[in-house]
Amino acid sequence: MNADFTFSIIKPNAVRTGKTGPILAMINEGGFRISALKMVQLTMQQAEMFYGIHKGKPFYDDLVEFMTSGPVVVMILRHENAVEEYRRLMGSTDPEKADQGTIRKTFGVSVKMNAVHGSDSDDNAVREAGFFFSEIERS
Ligand code: RTP
Ligand code: MG
Repeated sequence: MNADFTFSIIKPNAVRTGKTGPILAMINEGGFRISALKMVQLTMQQAEMFYGIHKGKPFYDDLVEFMTSGPVVVMILRHENAVEEYRRLMGSTDPEKADQGTIRKTFGVSVKMNAVHGSDSDDNAVREAGFFFSEIERS
């Protein structure tokens, strides 16, 4: 059975430019229930740990620097088959290739500044949600 939750981050440039509210509205309209949410400023070490799976890739250093460039909004989203459904709502990694009506098409400005992160598997959803939220912060 697929997990009924996924983990998402509203990335620094989207927060900085006031897109948090509109993105949360799209998430609600997409039928997701926001079951945990907070704003945090990642340290270099936290961002490196979070993106550890990408260590060694050409975009890794730039991504870590970007993700620490300002506050981000982290959240747990509930929906049936949440990981897959949320990746559909986010759209393609490259906003230019994302479908109309997706979060990345609407708010992404480049492959790096693509507005949101979403877990890519149930195992990673569990790991990522646990990285940011304790049991009592989740409903
Ligand atoms: P995410 O993890 O943020 O939900 O995005 P994703 O699965 O669609 O993409 P992934 O391959 O996991 O990459 C993580 C983030 O790294 C940046 N990236 N830059 N070629 C590049 O310059 C490049 N490739 C990836 C993006 O910000 C991507 O969301
Ligand atoms: Mg990914």
